Formats: sequence, structure tokens, C-alpha cells
Amino acid sequence: MGNWLQKQLARRPWWMNALLLFCVYMAFIYEPWDLFAKPVSRDVEVFLGYAFHGWAAKLTNPIHWFIYGLGTYGFWRMRPWMHPWAALYAGQVALSVCIFSVHSRPGFGGWAFGLLGLALVGALAVALWRSRPLFQPKPTALSQRYPGWAVVTGASAGIGAEFARQLARAGFSCVLTARREERLQALALELEKDCGVATRIVAVDLATPQGGERLAAALGDLEVGVLVNNAGFGLSGRFDKQDAGRLAEMVALNCTAPVVVTRLVLPRMLERGRGAILITGSVAGRQPLPLHAVYAATKAFDLLFGEALWSELRGRGIDVLVLEPGSTETEFQEVAGELPHAAESAASVVATALAALGQQPSVISGWFNWLRAHLGQRLMPHSLIALAAHRVTERYTPAENR
Ligand SMILES: NC(=O)c1ccc[n+]([C@@H]2O[C@H](COP(=O)([O-])OP(=O)(O)OC[C@H]3O[C@@H](n4cnc5c(N)ncnc54)[C@H](OP(=O)(O)O)[C@@H]3O)[C@@H](O)[C@H]2O)c1
Repeated sequence: MGNWLQKQLARRPWWMNALLLFCVYMAFIYEPWDLFAKPVSRDVEVFLGYAFHGWAAKLTNPIHWFIYGLGTYGFWRMRPWMHPWAALYAGQVALSVCIFSVHSRPGFGGWAFGLLGLALVGALAVALWRSRPLFQPKPTALSQRYPGWAVVTGASAGIGAEFARQLARAGFSCVLTARREERLQALALELEKDCGVATRIVAVDLATPQGGERLAAALGDLEVGVLVNNAGFGLSGRFDKQDAGRLAEMVALNCTAPVVVTRLVLPRMLERGRGAILITGSVAGRQPLPLHAVYAATKAFDLLFGEALWSELRGRGIDVLVLEPGSTETEFQEVAGELPHAAESAASVVATALAALGQQPSVISGWFNWLRAHLGQRLMPHSLIALAAHRVTERYTPAENR
């Protein structure tokens, strides 16, 4: 407990700890008392030097409660948005103290107190304004944040190969896994030569019942810093025309494999208290997607699984991120049997994921994908989204599969 408290206090200078304590007092003791226990006739709230009394004070009291609640959270977590707002609020309080003092005590006393208050609280506002770096997340190299090996599933092509390249450039030795061994060997040579990292190849079919366990067994002697659950495929076409075996394989690869591999790798990460788990989902998982019905459902599974895991593992040293790409230039369209269409580069999709890792539970690559996913999902009923999405996927689906 002592160590924990010391670590918490060491995150900010003493005067900011005092401010935090003040916010805690105001949010949890004074403001609730002020709102619920203080008689209306005695209530006073001051905003920008102007005093409200009685019911006007009572009704505006929740604003102060909200501000101090936010202050408690912001200082405790040292959130980046605290920097400008805390400084501006302190500046407003400095002015308020001065105006209030001059108004309420005519003559020299009022001015003296007012200017003293302005100088003291103003100095606090300046100190808060200058403490911006304290509120910024520390940009630490990925390999320092998650020391150990990076394991990338689906590394023989597309997004997985790009994950391996960018992680190797960041200094990670890489375990490359997929079914096509010769592709993995070529990538391993490239990474060893270009980035000077060690590599290990694990050729495994992750859609088989033992696939996940075989991969985990091959990692037994390694400390895994980053696990990228990326292997996956889609299948375009009308559900009743699709092969049942292939659909089952898709569910096994896109859903079961990340669950099994993560479950087997996670305990060692938790023992070390450090690690990152990425899951490649898709914007397709944000909505019903006719002509990709099962694929979209597998990606919805990945999103919900990953986001829940993010919350469970938060504060235990493990960061979880679900990457949700839109159309990306890989072998995906060919494997899924789609007609070729425009797509983002795998390099930019992976860069988006690595930049967001440790900051949030999921990230959609590309602003247009983001807009489509959020606007559609929030503003339209699912029936309308399904019909609109059907129109889009029809364009990418060969006539005989529609
Ligand atoms: N490209 C897109 O437009 C797009 C958009 C959103 C999400 N995604 C997601 O991104 C991830 C990567 O796909 P991608 O676009 O990079 O496609 P890709 O170029 O086809 O790569 C798929 C990777 O998965 C591996 N894989 C396929 N079946 C496997 C199996 N049974 N066991 C082990 N590995 C297997 C493939 O390797 P082998 O064939 O050698 O086994 C390959 O390395 C997938 O989860 C996909 O759903 C892609």
C-alpha cells in the first residue's frame, strides 16, 4: 500500500498533488454537503466573481460538483485534456477571486486581497499551463513497453507480413506463423537481413482443432511481448450458396484461434505484468453485411472479445487492441472471391494499429471507414444498414455468387 501510494504521488509535483487532494475534498465531501445539506437561504456560488444566492446558487451547484469531479479524475489519471482546462479554470478562479474581493470589500482592503488572490491563483494557472509535458503519455519505444518476442499469425501475406516488418523495425524478434512455410522463410530472411532480429517459423493450420495449441507449444521457451492475432479470411457470396465446411473453417480461424492462442499465451504475460495483444478485426464487424454474413459476424465477435479483454486486463500491464481495417491491399479480396476494388495500403493500416496500441481498445483505420462505421451504426436502424450494405457488397460479388 505504501509503495503504491508513493508511486501514485510521484506522478506529479507536490503542488499538483495538493490540487488533486483539494479536488477530491470538493468532489466527495464539500460539494455533496453544499448541495444536499446546506440550507438554501445560506447557499452562495461564485462564478467569474459574481455571487449567486439562494435557489440560483443551489441550481448552479452541480456545475461546481461536476468540475471538481472532472478535476479529480483528470489529475488522478493525468489525462492529456487536463492541461489546457485546468490552467484556464485556475485563471478564471484568479480573476474571480480578484473581482469578488473588490466588489465585496470596498476600499484598499478589497483591492489588496483581490490582487494577492490574483497573484497566487494566477501563479498556479501559469504553473499548470507550463506543466503540459506531465500530462502527455510517455512515448516509449514499443520494444521497451512490451519486451520479448512478437508473434504474428497470418504472417505469410498482407497485413500480417506488414505487422512483422514494422515490429521487426521496432526491434522485435519475430515468430512468423501461417501455413505457407516457404513464404514465411522468405520473410524471415528479409527481417534478419534488414532489421538484424531473430526469427522463428511455425507452420501451422490455425483452423484445425489443435492449431492454436500447436502454436502455443512452439512458443513455450519464448517470452512473448506482443501477440498479433491476425490470420483470417472472408468468403464473399450468398449464404445458401456457400460451402458449409469452408464457413466452419472461417469461424474456427477468425474466432476460435484468437481465443485459444490468447488464452494460452496470456498467463506468462500476466506473470511478467507486461505485454500487448492485438486482434485484426474489421469494419465489417460493425454492421450486418449481406453477402459477407458469416465473415462480418466473425469480426463482430473479434471486436467484442478484444474490447472486453481490454477492460479485463487494464491496469495489469497488458494492452489489448482490436484493429478494424476497411478494404486493404492484400490477398484478402482474391481469397474471399471478391471482384477487385480500391483499398488502403497494409503499411498504413498497421502503422495506425501500432500508434493506437496502449491508447484505446479498438481503432478503425481511415477516416472514411470511421465515419461510415459510427454514423451508420448510431443514426440508422439495422434494417436500413443491412439494405444499404447489401447494395455495396453486390458490387464486389461476382454475379454467380449473389
Ligand atoms: N484486406 C482487407 O481488406 C481486410 C479488411 C479488414 C480486415 N482484414 C483482416 O485482416 C486479417 C489479415 O488478412 P489480410 O488482408 O492480410 O489477408 P491475406 O493477405 O489473405 O492474409 C491472410 C493470412 O492469414 C493466413 N491464413 C489463412 N488461413 C490460415 C489458416 N488456416 N491457418 C493459419 N493461417 C492462415 C494466410 O497464410 P497462409 O495462407 O499461408 O496460411 C495469410 O498469411 C484477416 O483477419 C482479415 O479478416 C482484412
